[in-house]
Amino acid sequence: MEVVILAGPAEVGAHTAALIARRSAASPEMVLGIATGSSPMGTYRELARLRAQGTVDFDHMRCFALDEYVGLPRQHPASYGVVVAREVTTALGLEPANVSTPDGSAADLHQACRDYEASLTAAGGVDLQILGIGRNGHIGFNEPMSSLASRTRIKRLSAQTRADNARFFPPGESVPTHCITQGLGTIMEAREIVLVAQGEAKAKALAAAIEGPVASACPASLLQFHPHVTMVLDEAAASQLTLTDHYRSDEESTPCFAGRPL
Ligand code: F6R
Repeated sequence: MEVVILAGPAEVGAHTAALIARRSAASPEMVLGIATGSSPMGTYRELARLRAQGTVDFDHMRCFALDEYVGLPRQHPASYGVVVAREVTTALGLEPANVSTPDGSAADLHQACRDYEASLTAAGGVDLQILGIGRNGHIGFNEPMSSLASRTRIKRLSAQTRADNARFFPPGESVPTHCITQGLGTIMEAREIVLVAQGEAKAKALAAAIEGPVASACPASLLQFHPHVTMVLDEAAASQLTLTDHYRSDEESTPCFAGRPL
């Protein structure tokens, strides 16, 4: 696991966008796994800026979102389908047919989960997965005590996640109780994973994920078992890590991962 600590959110977005742009230039048909929430928005905006400059294009890129609320109308402003359409599909000039989000309003939700897994497999799997992290250590919406081998399925959101995400909903409207999320086993099949995090609110979860034991109590700790993970953090998010000298010396001496340029 590579831990990159940068000054603030702008640097996190620029660093991660540059990494995605390099991967996309090398492999224009790559499959990008996308998180929603606030953490990756700076990255997506920086990618949109690079595209507007003519530095990169994403004409052949395919994307799969991690998760979706269950039971929201498809056009609800807080639905991840709507957020992804605005912040990724339109902003990056992707073909709408190349962007998938789980169907949280399907009549048969279990079938929708199986279909999502099948469409990931048909696409050849995820080349690069972008993740955020919840304050309780969730990735995707795999809340604490999720099975470490789980696949795409319906999950109940924790009270903390529902409270944290209330900011995305109109005042007085409650956050759905359930979601469809890629499982931890699904996420771990991505060939490369980059987790982005900014702000002190994430510091405790990140310390547990990076330096704690691998345990379903902190789902993000499972990333310790993945062969190619980069954590891109700002100073505040990294503030409870204890091995920061080691991570920083790594950055200075090894600007590559496993022998490959980052
Ligand atoms: C959303 C997702 C979640 C978020 C996490 C952090 O697609 O997968 O794991 O990444 O809840 O959310 P923010 O970034 O809003 O703090």
